[in-house]
Amino acid sequence: MKKIHEKKYILGIETSCDDTAIAIVDSERKILSNIVINQNNYHKEYGGIVPEIAARAHLTFIQTALEKSLKKSKKSINDIDLICATAGPGLIGGLIIGTTFAKTLSWSLKKPYVAVNHLEGHALTARLDSNIPYPYLLLLVSGGHTQLIVVKKCGVYERISTTLDDAVGETFDKGAKMLELSFPGGPEIENCGKKGNEQAFKLPRPMIKSSNPNFSFSGLKTAFSKLVSKTDIKNNKNDLAASFEKAITDCIIDRTRLGIKLFRKMSLKSEKTRLVVAGGVASNSKIRQELKELTTNENIDFYAPPLNLCTDNGAMIAWAGFERFKKYGPSNLNFKPKPRWPLDPEAFKNNPTMKRIGKKGIKA
Ligand code: KG4
Ligand code: ZN
Repeated sequence: MKKIHEKKYILGIETSCDDTAIAIVDSERKILSNIVINQNNYHKEYGGIVPEIAARAHLTFIQTALEKSLKKSKKSINDIDLICATAGPGLIGGLIIGTTFAKTLSWSLKKPYVAVNHLEGHALTARLDSNIPYPYLLLLVSGGHTQLIVVKKCGVYERISTTLDDAVGETFDKGAKMLELSFPGGPEIENCGKKGNEQAFKLPRPMIKSSNPNFSFSGLKTAFSKLVSKTDIKNNKNDLAASFEKAITDCIIDRTRLGIKLFRKMSLKSEKTRLVVAGGVASNSKIRQELKELTTNENIDFYAPPLNLCTDNGAMIAWAGFERFKKYGPSNLNFKPKPRWPLDPEAFKNNPTMKRIGKKGIKA
């Protein structure tokens, strides 16, 4: 490894879901390349991600993603100082492909390897893009997760809340499927919703005003399914999408308002309060706008990453891996990918409804 003050080049590999993504980032926060090969066409006809298809597609795309990333950054593989890959949580097939690819590079190039938690990648994006200081409250809204987490330092997290059932991105995807829109559903709902009236249909807002800080979306999903089944979709698609998007947004805003209150109680009086949003759903403009209004009213700082850093990408994995490497050193090449890997493994102890420890471990 180069001397501490010398600029380093970090490779970030992301294969935990349906994007094969490889980026090169330098230690001064510059993103030299950020290649994302999405598999949307492979999964479209199923209306969701098929794990086996995703794994095979990662295998097809991963070498191309690396070559494109090197070419775009004008670097050779020998310029890379650190190799980082998502090792969980996520779909095991993709995780095995990405981490094995990274370990092989690490072994052959004699460069250190870091196994990165995908959620830590989303959590630290704000530091890559804008050098946001610790601590901050993170609203993580993605296809698989909906959580409010206090980000204290790299590797030190305290989860305030999570979803009791469906994740918000999953809710968007399922709602889109009901409206016969394509996959992924979030951007589709957003596009239709822009042309519709958000007051057109009445829908429930689960957990709203509850003192339990968790999220829940299954009741909304069921109510939407019933509404869609008795409505002429063709003539009401935009109004249905707008009403659904608004109901989801209201739930997120209400839960975040409570999260801010709880975070304030945990913080020192002298500390500035900051809210950071991350994950694919953070690219939704209605949600971004309403979060901005909420934080203005609450008089706290707000940071939302650019759209290409909200959805899954390799740059966030490279940066989280670099921060982790500086603090904890390299990972062992024997590190096994983990389909379940919570950022705050203690969180479930405080919440009896969250004790979902299956064969794969604690749910994230
Ligand atoms: O973070 P991400 O790329 O992958 C996971 O880690 O899950 O998030 C993907 C999710 C999908 O459910 C997708 O529908 C949702 O993010 N999403 C959106 C938007 N763009 C992506 N949801 C709402 N509005 C959007 N504009
Ligand atoms: Zn993600």
